[in-house]
Amino acid sequence: MRVIVCENYEEMSEQAAKLVSSQLILKPESVLGLATGSTPIGLYQRLIENNKKGEIDFSQVTTFNLDEYYPIKRTNDQSYYYFMNEQLFSKVNINPENTYIPNGETKTPNDECANYEKLIKMHGGVDLQILGIGQNGHIGFNEPDANLNSKTHLTNLTENTIEANSRFFTSDEEVPRQALTMGISTILKSKKIILLASGANKSRVVSALLNDAINTSVPATMLKVHPDVVLICDKDAYTGVRLGVDIGGTEVKFAVVEGGKILYRSQFETEKDSADRFVEQIAEECNKIRKEYPIKTIGIGTPGTIKNGLVSASNLPFKSYPLGKRLKDYIDMPINIDNDANCAALGESEFGAGEKYENIIMVTLGTGVGGGIIIDNKICHGKYSMGEVGHIIIEAKNGLPCPCGQTGCWEQYASVTAFIRQAKTAALENTDSALYRIYKENGEKLNGKLIFAALDEGCPVAQKVFDEYIDWLVVGIKSLINIFGPDAIIIAGGITKQGERLVAPIRERVNNSDVAIEVSELQNDAGALGAAML
Ligand code: F6R
Repeated sequence: MRVIVCENYEEMSEQAAKLVSSQLILKPESVLGLATGSTPIGLYQRLIENNKKGEIDFSQVTTFNLDEYYPIKRTNDQSYYYFMNEQLFSKVNINPENTYIPNGETKTPNDECANYEKLIKMHGGVDLQILGIGQNGHIGFNEPDANLNSKTHLTNLTENTIEANSRFFTSDEEVPRQALTMGISTILKSKKIILLASGANKSRVVSALLNDAINTSVPATMLKVHPDVVLICDKDAYTGVRLGVDIGGTEVKFAVVEGGKILYRSQFETEKDSADRFVEQIAEECNKIRKEYPIKTIGIGTPGTIKNGLVSASNLPFKSYPLGKRLKDYIDMPINIDNDANCAALGESEFGAGEKYENIIMVTLGTGVGGGIIIDNKICHGKYSMGEVGHIIIEAKNGLPCPCGQTGCWEQYASVTAFIRQAKTAALENTDSALYRIYKENGEKLNGKLIFAALDEGCPVAQKVFDEYIDWLVVGIKSLINIFGPDAIIIAGGITKQGERLVAPIRERVNNSDVAIEVSELQNDAGALGAAML
């Protein structure tokens, strides 16, 4: 099975439309097998456009639909007969006599099914079959069952399908309990098959389709025996259920992620003394979670550098520690490891404020300044580490010393720690200011929020500190923009709770309309979400 993973529903529909259009150009008298449901609507819209532009012609095309509810009147706006006319047939130059849909009005369903099989055969079989997939793995209405029917047949719909279909009907009683559907072998006899899947609610079944052996509980797995199947799905449908682990200096966070949503989360305190004990604890939690969720991959974000698989982090018991290898001793599944700031940037780029951009730099303001660089939607990696934006040198002479060994690093001026230090110095130099009073009242507890409280009082000293702090931030941000040319700089960290109050002056001083400056949407969840997506 060939798999094409698209960015979104639009791209999925576009890709499918290209393949169907090529089929009609190469063989104008093609027999198409068609599906209904919400998934192929975008494809049909594009086929209508291509037909209007004269790029494709339906005049010689014959179509066979996969299925129809039973019993149902053709005039019922929920019938597939009605759907196909609305969504495609009435809008292209197809001859209605060449469009076949099982008859939901028939009094003799078994004869109708046998006749439908004959008709398909008479037309030389289906050249290209379009399929959607049910959340329970059905194709057509071939529901999970120990015995799958091979030919077109009358079938009982499962509770799961009845519930999924109920969104289209006004009352529960109206939802049909049966359907006429092509069988598995009818579908497999098609020369080519395109299977479409879109949205996070399909990710479990897509994961099962790709990873499980052929089985009747996921009827779509039968497609694996066909030599020419293309699965075209969007990212949300493809990602599956993943586990992201965000290791931090104080706690380790676990998040079970499906299509950008966190289904489950847990956390425990970071073990500071023994790397081996720490790994055992992490593995135990991962394995516990795996018993509850069908996890496809595990991603780990860790502070520090990763050299040839060896992790070194100053605030953790990892000193040239083979983290991945040790975890593998306990967990038998793919594990990907990356730097935690890179993971946060990836999370933000996949599901947060960076979703609409391809190139972002995430700058996290906290004790230091962390960073992650995403170019073309991928983490930028150097030989060992990359994105240590806090350590770009912005003061060449008499720069402040940094624990990294350099002097003049950006984080010595632009971190929240630096902001507080700058405020304390200014307060002590201006003992008649509101900032000084607040400092006196709070002493070592002075934090970003309290400095903003002094600003609220209209304190000119606090204002000067803030303006200078923004200048330091802007110096680094401008350099990053010059080097990487990102679409957006996303700023994270507790201080961004100030929102536009912090970001607007940065934007104003960066003064570059090509680059968006935005606040992180995911904040503390970005790391685990990004780790899950590694
Ligand atoms: C429709 C059909 C079904 C749907 C499936 C997905 O003709 O045969 O198998 O393809 O139920 O439906 P949507 O696209 O609505 O999620």
